[in-house]
Order: sequence, then structure tokens, then C-alpha cells
Amino acid sequence: MSVPTLAAAPSLCAPLPVLGRDVTVPLVTGGEVAYAALDYAASAPALQRVWDDVAAYAPCYGSVHRGAGYLSQLSTDLFENARRTVAAFLDCRDTDQVVFTRSTTDSLNLLAAALPDGCEVFVFETEHHASLLPWRNARVTCLDAPSSPRQAVDTLERALADRTASVHGGHGPALVCVTGASNVTGELWPVRELAAAAHAHGARIVLDAAQLAPHHPVSVRDLDVDWVAFSGHKLYAPFGSGVLAGRADWLREAEPYLAGGGASRRVTRRADGGLDVEWHDGAARHEAGSPNVIGAHAVASACKALTEAGFDTLVAREEHLIRTVREGLADVPEVRFLSLFGDDAPRVGVLSFVVEGWNSSHFAAALSAEYGIGVRDGLFCAHPLVRRLLGGDPRSQGECGAPEAAPGEKSLNAVRVSFGAGTPDEHVERFVRAVKELVRDGAKWSYRTEDGRCVPDTSA
Ligand SMILES: Cc1ncc(COP(=O)(O)O)c(C=O)c1O
Repeated sequence: MSVPTLAAAPSLCAPLPVLGRDVTVPLVTGGEVAYAALDYAASAPALQRVWDDVAAYAPCYGSVHRGAGYLSQLSTDLFENARRTVAAFLDCRDTDQVVFTRSTTDSLNLLAAALPDGCEVFVFETEHHASLLPWRNARVTCLDAPSSPRQAVDTLERALADRTASVHGGHGPALVCVTGASNVTGELWPVRELAAAAHAHGARIVLDAAQLAPHHPVSVRDLDVDWVAFSGHKLYAPFGSGVLAGRADWLREAEPYLAGGGASRRVTRRADGGLDVEWHDGAARHEAGSPNVIGAHAVASACKALTEAGFDTLVAREEHLIRTVREGLADVPEVRFLSLFGDDAPRVGVLSFVVEGWNSSHFAAALSAEYGIGVRDGLFCAHPLVRRLLGGDPRSQGECGAPEAAPGEKSLNAVRVSFGAGTPDEHVERFVRAVKELVRDGAKWSYRTEDGRCVPDTSA
């Protein structure tokens, strides 16, 4: 009789090398441990490749678009090549424009400043504040959180249909702003379907890809979105650059986001003493001031590194890490993961949870002080969503630094663990072990609140 062999587990790629792998941090209980950076959703560590590319260029650093010297020319080429690399990474249409900004927040504020007159904006209440808040000068419709991707599309369809049927005619410009992956639940949103719904009703759509682009390929063409925004520091390129890519027309028509050198083609003095300005109409129109060439080069380097590593393998590895967390904590009923679309919904490596009987700040502080694990606690700049998921009223006020929840009481904030291409298995395994030990045994140290943060009490 032949002995059945075990099915070979699919081989997973190694984590991509990132900076900080060898950094150790002190434990309050004594000794040191390698730092487990599990807050990628806030800011991811720099890829080693990005760091090396930046270091290789740094001696040749020069001004961009404003110098006759060799290194200025070289830096200008590097900056413009970075634009092309980002356009390829996002699979942009030939007519799209890539504008370098400071971050996703900056990109969405730029788009908000470029909205045509009378533009209506549609956002779900589930958005990060960077997507929720920039549209204050427009008429904003805030849509209720859906409980499934299908319901998200239906909700948007209905809101857009109401607009077209309204007495005002609803034929003016409209924009839908939607996140690709939630920074709270990690869940993927049905971007292609939402884009189709928007376009069917004459609206445009901007994709907040801050949490999507570091984990999944983003194709502007395939998703058929009008714009996409992301941040370098979440894409392993923490050098101060972000991106807004997409249609050129609204940006071309708008006043420059910042007025100054670089955005202006010609400035002349009028006879009456005033100034006439002719602005650029390409990306430069919204990139006044000296461009952040190192930031743009770093973003381009990260785009190349992720593309070369292959998103198929990166996604497979991340799903393995998500399973490690979910399965590792499946037998800990005190831990409740936050989710809109259900536990099995496709997601990126971002998971938020509450622990019965624990205040989330206390839990996160213990993970850091006793296990060297860096996570985040709070409302994650998505107050309405987190309040809703915690069972509160998304319309109510509330502070990020919530008071201690007594055992059995509803948590007022949550803990978020997040990881990505540079995360070794050991970090996630240590996290699972730490959560189990804290729930079973409690914290080994006592903690107090200082400046609104929970910290180990070292006064004893
Ligand atoms: C979904 C989402 N959008 C936008 C942002 C804002 O990004 P940034 O702080 O880089 O502007 C974040 C940051 O956490 C985010 O998670």
C-alpha cells in the first residue's frame, strides 16, 4: 500500500527587505526584542531598494526644472521619469496626468480645489477623513455605511439616480470619492462597479488608493476611475511625496493649487501696476515651488520594486499572514474583529479589533511595552465608521483618547494591526501569541494615562 503524501503547501515569497529589520526596542519587563512594526497602514517602513536608490541618487541631487547645470538636468530627467513610472504602475490612460503632491490628503485637497462650479460630491460615511473632509466647498452627500459590496453599489446608484431626478435637474458635474481598501477593516471595496455606477449617472470618481496601492495592483484603465490618489509613505517610500493621477481637464481648468514659481509660465507687469500671469496647463500647474525630486524618485523606485516582486506573490504572502491572525485568534472569543462586509470578505493586511474588558489604548500599550509590537489604537481618522462598527452612533461626538472601558462595557476605540510586503511571519506569530497571553493572563505591568496616551507606569 502506498503511503499518501501530504500536499505541498504553496511556497510563499520571502518578505521584501525593509529598513528597521534589526532595530531592537526595550521591554518594560526587561531585555530587548526586535521591533515588530505592525502599523503599516499608518506608515510602512522604507523598502531597502528604495533607500538604496535614494542613496545612489543623493550625491547627484540638483534643482528640478530650474537649472542649466548637469545635475539639474539629471534631476529634472529623474523627476519626469518618476512621473512616467508612476503612470505605468497605475496603468494610466495616455491622456492622464500624474501630479506629485505631498500625500493622499494633499492629492484629494488638490482635486477638491479643482472641482468645477456647482459640483456635487458623494462619499460614504466609512471613508478616512482625508476622503471625507476636503469637499467642504461643494454640496456633499454623505452615504450610509453599506453592509455588503452590493449594497454599496445600490446605495450609490440610488443617490445618483435621485440627483438626476431632482427638481434641480442634476445635470451639473458630480464626483464620487471612494476608498479601495478600508484603513479600518482592510476590506476591499467594489471600485469597478462603483465607477460604472458613477459613470452611468454622469458622475466622475476618484479612488483613494492609500491602503490599496501598497497591497494590490491598481489599474486606472481597468477600474475605469477618473483619478487615483496614494501616499509614498504607505508605499514603502517615506520621503514626503504623494500622487494624484488621472484626467487632466478639471485640473487644467482650475486655479493653480499653489501659486508660485514652477506653476507660472509667464508673469508680466500691467500698465496699471497689477500683474498678469499665464499659468502652465500640465502637471506643473499644481506643483508650484521646488519639486520634491527625492520623494518622487522614491515613489517610482517603490513602484518598480513592487511590480518586479509581483503582486501575485505579494498578495499570496499577505493572505497567509491574514490567515495566521484570523486562525490564530479564532479560539479567543474575547477578541472581536471589526468588519462591514463580514469576516470572509476579501481584504488587505489591515485588521481592527476590540478585546472584551480592555480599553484599546491599554491593550496597544501592553503590546508595545511587553512584546515590542507597534500597532495603533483609536478611531483611525475614520470616526463615523469606527463608531458605527463599535455599536455607537456615527453622528455622535467623541474623543480619540477614550476613557477606560470597564469589563463588559462597550469599547470606545479599537486596536489596529497592519502589515505588508516587508512583514516576516515571526512578527505576526508574536502578535497572535501576545494577544492570547494578554487576554488569558492580563498585563504584567501597570499602566497610567499621560497626555492622553496609555503608558507603562515606571514610577513604582
Ligand atoms: C484610506 C486612507 N486614505 C487617506 C489617508 C491619508 O493619507 P496621508 O496621511 O498619507 O495623507 C489614509 C491614511 O491613513 C488612509 O488610510
